[in-house]
Amino acid sequence: LPKHVAIIMDGNGRWAQRRGLPRAAGHRAGVEALRRVVAACKDLGIEYLTVFAFSTENWKRPGEEVDALMSLAVEYFNREIDVLRARGVRIRVIGDMSGLPGPVREAATRAAQETAGNSTLNLTIALNYGGRMEICRAARELASAVKSGEMNPEDITEDVFASRLYAPDIPDPDLLIRPSGEMRISNFLLWQCAYTEMWFSSVLWPDFSAEHLKQAVEDFRRRQRRFGGLG
Ligand code: IPE
Ligand code: IPE
Ligand code: MG
Repeated sequence: LPKHVAIIMDGNGRWAQRRGLPRAAGHRAGVEALRRVVAACKDLGIEYLTVFAFSTENWKRPGEEVDALMSLAVEYFNREIDVLRARGVRIRVIGDMSGLPGPVREAATRAAQETAGNSTLNLTIALNYGGRMEICRAARELASAVKSGEMNPEDITEDVFASRLYAPDIPDPDLLIRPSGEMRISNFLLWQCAYTEMWFSSVLWPDFSAEHLKQAVEDFRRRQRRFGGLG
């Protein structure tokens, strides 16, 4: 079983377009898919689920769509806290929190605080997240530490570098799922996905079901991971 599954929740806009609905309706349906998948991960016994909800590049979208996504995020945190707490889910957010609107930041912080004691499923939501930004931020912190004499350049190993990423205690993803037919990483978990198995599907995220997740996990089980060795 993969210990950590990461998902790029993509295809909401196309799902809505095909139905003649506004893109925001696709995002709303995407939240339903997230609810299903969180429940399915718990049932399967997956320990970590990390989902890409909003990238540092998604600010390029029309203001109206960005606002709809931010409102949905607040609504999700506020509505789900009780259910997730009861189910033993720990929620947290990775990304540049300082760049998020106040209400999103507050709702995310509260959800993280109120579920901090849980450990059955670790749900991490990437919001205003960019893999390059995460790496750049770690480099900046290490540069300051060297400048202040706290460490030497030679002390910067892969482990030390990784300890400066947003959530150093979370293991690297074993399986990355991207629905919607796109076959790219779009700046998600660049450092962490060095040896992650990728699973692509043309299903649009709002149509993603527990069955799709099970299929991805089945396929993952048949893969041979070599990590550069001979397996
Ligand atoms: C994913 O769905 C949600 C976000 C990126 C915020 P999209 O909105 O990218 O949907 P498509 O790719 O346009 O169909
Ligand atoms: C990636 O999807 C980001 C999220 C799902 C939050 P995009 O729709 O933004 O990615 P591109 O633009 O197709 O690469
Ligand atoms: Mg997209």
